[in-house]
Amino acid sequence: FKNPKIAVIAGDGIGKEVMPEGLRALEAANKKFNIGMQFDHFDFASCDYYLKHGKMMPDDWFDTLMKYDAIFFGAVGMPDILPDHVSLWGSLIQFRRGFDQYVNLRPVRLLPGVPCPLANRKPGDIDFFVVRENTEGEYSSVGGKMFPDTDREFVIQESIFTRQGVDRILKYAYDLAQSRPKKHLTSATKSNGIAITMPYWDQRVENMAKQFADVRTDKYHIDILAAHFVMNPDRFDVVVASNLFGDILSDLGPACTGTIAVAPSGSINPEGKFPSLFEPVHGSAPDIYGKMIANPIGQIWSGSMMLDHLGYPEAGLAIFTAIEKVLSSANSPLTPDLGGKAKTDDLGKAIAAAI
Ligand code: NAD
Ligand code: IPM
Ligand code: MN
Repeated sequence: FKNPKIAVIAGDGIGKEVMPEGLRALEAANKKFNIGMQFDHFDFASCDYYLKHGKMMPDDWFDTLMKYDAIFFGAVGMPDILPDHVSLWGSLIQFRRGFDQYVNLRPVRLLPGVPCPLANRKPGDIDFFVVRENTEGEYSSVGGKMFPDTDREFVIQESIFTRQGVDRILKYAYDLAQSRPKKHLTSATKSNGIAITMPYWDQRVENMAKQFADVRTDKYHIDILAAHFVMNPDRFDVVVASNLFGDILSDLGPACTGTIAVAPSGSINPEGKFPSLFEPVHGSAPDIYGKMIANPIGQIWSGSMMLDHLGYPEAGLAIFTAIEKVLSSANSPLTPDLGGKAKTDDLGKAIAAAI
């Protein structure tokens, strides 16, 4: 992408606090590597926008954002103002589905200088990817309520696993595993209890595995897999999972590396037909919003992933290296979740300076 055009959406809560730090790092990389990246800011996909307009986004959001090479996103959701399913299905989930961002790529890495809650783990021991299916599975809009307000009332919501949808996420995950030294793929299912969709996923894994003879495949049920994330995180390289299981694993993984606040993600349309979206894994954290103590690293690292995606791996690496450098040097301004007392922008400025 030449002179990439970026749509910036800060969203709600701490999204508005960490976004300026993500941009500060991107601007530093932009300058240093002469990328010519341009940013336009949008106020939609936020609960503030909803309060003004009665909807989360303007009707032409799709055409507006299609003009961009990527979307840099903060977080959305203010559950005290608007139910989460309204705000999220009115924004983020529309992006993921509308732009066919079927890969949600979420690195899990123990960074230097971050105390690990698991005993005897050092940087290098935990270094894997969660590859989460991002458009179907358990996140489906098929279903509804029957016999409302009677004693026969019930709700039903389908899980949808299409052959195309499962195969394309497995292919992406296998390609990624094949490109890494360990060449190891772990598939998360629950085929003992969920007896139709999950055995289907297993069957598609077996089929895809044939094309990747050099990749070692392991299958786990999600319950014991969660336990292994805590007991044996060094076992994993690429973990592929359905939408819901991938969501859960991509909070659990980063929690095992000390704080969910550093975790980045890319909601990617690998074919490049639509813009991809880069955002931290965490949400809008209403419990700490307004104090300027949010850790901006998840946002900043997401910017690094965005640069990789746009074809500027050196610039992406420069941001990531700056994060590592600041985390591992003495007297760096760390936010409270990292054991420090610094403010969001103190940490952001230190990382931008290191770039
Ligand atoms: P959350 O990730 O917002 O917060 C969970 C906990 O982690 C909170 O205690 C919070 O203070 C802490 N935390 C999160 N990010 C942090 C950071 N950068 N620095 C320091 N601490 C941080 O999850 P939640 O509380 O379940 O959700 C809050 C809102 O965010 C809800 O509306 C939810 O739907 C939404 N949400 C949005 C996204 C997204 O936009 N991608 C993701 C998750 C949750
Ligand atoms: C995430 C979030 C979203 C998800 C929510 C806010 C809908 O938890 O990006 O991980 O479940 O995908
Ligand atoms: Mn999540």
